[in-house]
Amino acid sequence: MSLDVAALRAQFPVLNRTIDGKPLVYLDNAATTQKPQAVIDAIVDFYTQCNANVHRGAHHLSDEATRRYEKARDTVAAFIGAPHREEVIWTSGTTEAINLVANGAGQLLKAGDEVIVTEMEHHANLVTWQQACKRSGASLKVCPMFESGELDRDAFDALLSDNTRLVAFPHVSNALGTVNPIKLLTAKAKEKDALVLIDGAQGIAHGGVDVDDIGCDFYAFSGHKIFAPTGVGVLWGKKSVLETWPVWQTGGEMIQDVDYDHATWGALPNRLEAGTPNIAGVIGLGAAVQWLSQQDIPALQAHEKALLEYANEQAATMEGMKIVGTAKDKIGVMSFLLNGAHPADIGFILDKQGVAIRTGDNCAQPLMKRLGIPGTARASFSIYNTHEEIDQLFAALKKAKMMLA
Ligand SMILES: Cc1ncc(COP(=O)(O)O)c(C=O)c1O
Repeated sequence: MSLDVAALRAQFPVLNRTIDGKPLVYLDNAATTQKPQAVIDAIVDFYTQCNANVHRGAHHLSDEATRRYEKARDTVAAFIGAPHREEVIWTSGTTEAINLVANGAGQLLKAGDEVIVTEMEHHANLVTWQQACKRSGASLKVCPMFESGELDRDAFDALLSDNTRLVAFPHVSNALGTVNPIKLLTAKAKEKDALVLIDGAQGIAHGGVDVDDIGCDFYAFSGHKIFAPTGVGVLWGKKSVLETWPVWQTGGEMIQDVDYDHATWGALPNRLEAGTPNIAGVIGLGAAVQWLSQQDIPALQAHEKALLEYANEQAATMEGMKIVGTAKDKIGVMSFLLNGAHPADIGFILDKQGVAIRTGDNCAQPLMKRLGIPGTARASFSIYNTHEEIDQLFAALKKAKMMLA
């Protein structure tokens, strides 16, 4: 059954907008995705019908808020194949989830230990480990990639050693679109008994993730990349590992017993979730995951693949356009350079035509330096984009090319 893209688009109110009188062509989905009405309704309904704090109240509203909030944990746990619901820890996003791992696993690092990351990291999964290594005296090893944006697997194997304590890599590169062979990389790291953290910020929205099947220890992602609100995300971690960690933040809800001179900690997930959480955000994330689970995911994946193929065909006919990131296994991210024009100028001209893209270093400065470029223009596609929008992108690019010639 082919996808009814018009019906899908109708569920995303913002896509009806015009920008300077032109229909919005939203191609900045790797930065953040738009929200379906189901998610907006879930948030509005929470605030209009049952706003209260969770886990605390002795009243009806609080019970209802707690039920909705904890139901979201069940929904997310099922979506990612988490063996235990308490392994789903709410965070503010991928960045906080990775920092939580650095606080937990990072405190166990010591001089002589090694942490492996890749050349294609987002700053969130690079700077966090760079700083954790500086604090602990561990060394940071950076696995190289080929010019195409594919990871050099031989180099990865060679970097693994008996000193490797943790390996962190992206499921999908935000700058290049590369889909990494996460199961294979995890299996290799596990041969050395290393902990494995997958930065799933870009991977989560493009199909099923089964953390148990992957075999990793941690999978981090942000709600806003998967049709949910900003300010909420997930660290999934193996219970047997999370339970051994020192606490992260202290305060309400994460304790078991408190006295003036000592405190003891509660069980997972609470021990890693101090203070009043982003209740509406969590409920919105639950609604987004539920909404996505009800879609025909293979059809969505096929549609995204077709969009990328179509964009690549168009790009091949456009003189002066260079695609950055040509891995065989890619999702709908098209980073590019055009005739030496500055990406910011391209973005500006496209915006005047209603086409929203990202420009700059893609939060991956070392990767841009590695590629010898200051940054890229990046169009990123989602399930609600259309072939016509790609035509509009290329029409706008032709104009930009003429103006910048
Ligand atoms: C690969 C990758 N990792 C981490 C992040 C950080 O996500 P957030 O800013 O939502 O915490 C992003 C955001 O673009 C990303 O693309």
